[in-house]
Amino acid sequence: MGSPEILEPLILAIETSCDETAAAVVRGRTVLSNIIASQVEFHRQWGGVVPEAAARVHLEAIGPVIESALAEAGVAPTDIRAVAVTNRPGLIGALSVGLTAAKAFAMRFEVPLLGIHHLEGHMAAILGLPAVEIPLPHLSLIVSGGHTELVRVNDWGDYKILGETRDDAAGEAFDKAARLMGLGTPGGYAIQEAARSGDPRRYPFPLGLKGDTIDFSFSGLKTAVLRRVEAEGDQLDVPDCAASLQATIVKVLTERSLRAVERFNIPALSLVGGVAANEALRRSLADACARASIQFFTPPLALCTDNAAMIGLAAAVRFSGGQQDDLHLEAMATEEIGRSTREGRPSVSLP
Ligand code: KG4
Ligand code: ZN
Repeated sequence: MGSPEILEPLILAIETSCDETAAAVVRGRTVLSNIIASQVEFHRQWGGVVPEAAARVHLEAIGPVIESALAEAGVAPTDIRAVAVTNRPGLIGALSVGLTAAKAFAMRFEVPLLGIHHLEGHMAAILGLPAVEIPLPHLSLIVSGGHTELVRVNDWGDYKILGETRDDAAGEAFDKAARLMGLGTPGGYAIQEAARSGDPRRYPFPLGLKGDTIDFSFSGLKTAVLRRVEAEGDQLDVPDCAASLQATIVKVLTERSLRAVERFNIPALSLVGGVAANEALRRSLADACARASIQFFTPPLALCTDNAAMIGLAAAVRFSGGQQDDLHLEAMATEEIGRSTREGRPSVSLP
C-alpha cells in the first residue's frame, strides 16, 4: 500500500496541548506557515509547566498566533476549508483554549472541524517531507517529553502499539538529567549542545531493561545520573556526563527500534516527536537503518518538537478520507491512540 491520495484544501491547524501555542496553514502535504509561541521562558521561573498558567498564556497568545499563521501563508480566513485542532491527550485547560478557538473559527467561517490526537500529529509530521512517498505499513518511533512508543502505522488512522516505556519517556529522561546537571531547558537540546565536547564513554549508564525486549525503561537512568552528580560534586565533567547520557539513550532507542522492525518484518521506520530533533539520534537511526536496508524517515527539525503543522498534516489525511467532527468535540486528558490493541497483550491507554 502506498501513501493515500491527499486532497489539497487549505487547512488551518491549532495546537495548544502543552506549553507551545501553535497555529499553521497546510495545503495537502505542503506546509504554508508554522507559527509557534513558546512558553518555555515563562515556565522557567517555576522549573516546569504549571497547567493553569499555561492555559492563561495560551489564551493571550492564540489570537495573534492564528493571525500570524494566516498572514504568513498569505491566505484570508475565508480561504480556509477546514480547521484542525489537537483535542487529546494533554493538559485539559491548555487543550480547551485551542479547541475553543478552533470551534469559534469553524462556526464563524462555516467550515468543518477535525479533532486530532497529538501523537497522530507527531507521526504525520513525516508527510511534511517534500516529494517523499511514505510507505504503509511502517513503524513509528515516537519520542517526546511525555511518550516513548513504537507504533505500527498500518494505515493513517490505524495504529498498533508494539513497544513502549514502562516508566519515564525519553524526553523526560533528558529533561530530568539536564536539571540535575544544572543545564537549561528544553533539557534534550541543552544536553545535545553540552555533549558536543564530551566523551560518551566517560560515565557508563544503565541501558534499562535487559533481554530482547522492545519496551523501554528510563527511570533507572535518572537515578544513575543523580548518583553520579552527587558522587562527583564539583568534579562532575558536565560535557562528559551529557555525552554519556545522550549516547545511552541513543543506543537504547536505536537497538530496540531495529529489533522491532526486524521482529515484525516492517521495512520502514520513522523517528518523530520532540526528541527526534536530537542530531545524534537521527544519525544513529539513519546509519542503523541503512545497514539493515530499512527505509528511514524523520521530519525536518521544525516539525519534530510540538507544532501545529503536524496537526494540519494529520488532518489533511483524515479530511481527504471524508472525516470530520461536530462542534460537540471535547478535550481529553488521556486517550488510547486509534483503535489499537497491543500485539499479544490487552489494550493500553496512553498516559
Ligand atoms: O514533542 P515535544 O515537543 O513535546 C511533547 O509532546 O512532549 O517533545 C519535547 C521533548 C522534551 O523532553 C525536550 O527535552 C525534547 O523533546 N527535545 C530534545 C531535543 N529537542 C527537544 N531531546 C533531545 N535532543 C534535542 N535536540
Ligand atoms: Zn509532542
